Amino acid sequence: MVSPIGIFDSGVGGLSVLRAIRALMPGEDLIYFGDQAHVPYGMRTIDQIRDFSEEITKHLLKQQAKMIVVACNTASAVALKYLRSRFPDVPFVGMEPAVKPAAETTRSRKVGVLATPATFQGELYASVVERFAKNVKLFPETCPGLVTQIEKGELDSQTTNAILNKALEPLLKEGIDTIVLGCTHYPFVIPQIKRIAGSRVRVIDPAPAIARRVSSLLDSNRLRNQSDRIGRMRFITSGDPVGMESALNKLLGINAAVDSIPWITNAEHNETSLLTKNDAISTS
Ligand code: DGL
Repeated sequence: MVSPIGIFDSGVGGLSVLRAIRALMPGEDLIYFGDQAHVPYGMRTIDQIRDFSEEITKHLLKQQAKMIVVACNTASAVALKYLRSRFPDVPFVGMEPAVKPAAETTRSRKVGVLATPATFQGELYASVVERFAKNVKLFPETCPGLVTQIEKGELDSQTTNAILNKALEPLLKEGIDTIVLGCTHYPFVIPQIKRIAGSRVRVIDPAPAIARRVSSLLDSNRLRNQSDRIGRMRFITSGDPVGMESALNKLLGINAAVDSIPWITNAEHNETSLLTKNDAISTS
């Protein structure tokens, strides 16, 4: 692998961002980390999400990542600023709910935003609202349980559809004509969302815009991979590799082996860190 782009999320959600990056820049090597030992992040404390994000970033940098894409709205909301200050030489790309394009195109001036509680509480969301939503009414919705359903690969089950119905019906009654997907897991249920919301409601998946941002940052930092071969992809989970392998197949149609890198806890210092292969060799 030449220096890869590092991408991480609490679980499989960031694969929606990886898919867009791969489509735009097939020549780049990609390394993806899904923190499935800790998913969902949306219910966790700020300190926890910050610690996990820092440790994963360190791990990706050890694998020579030339850029880190925080492909998780929740981790971006809580940890992006901190990561930038902690690793000042590393280019980061984070997620923020795509309120700007929604505000530019909505006719009803009513926009639904689907994201986790932690994303709504973060200052990034407050700043997006402040900057772009002056003349628009936003309807935030947390869709409890939806991330877990997508992690399980249940994209179209009764439970998943019930969660979506419950979340969307009140928003549709209010007259929203645009839905912003403020969680990277949610693009995997766009067909289900469209089925409930109807064809007149626009659903915004931010992943293609994020991929364009990654591309321009690679250029401005002179980091683009110049070789003309197809880039390699490596997948890592802190959870069950077999589960992630089947998610890769189901969500992206990819057959790939997934590496497992578990978290270890140092009880004495009350710290968790990732057990890397080198650690495993030295401790065995
Ligand atoms: N994919 C996530 C996001 O974009 C994380 C959801 C979660 O783990 O709660 O917010």
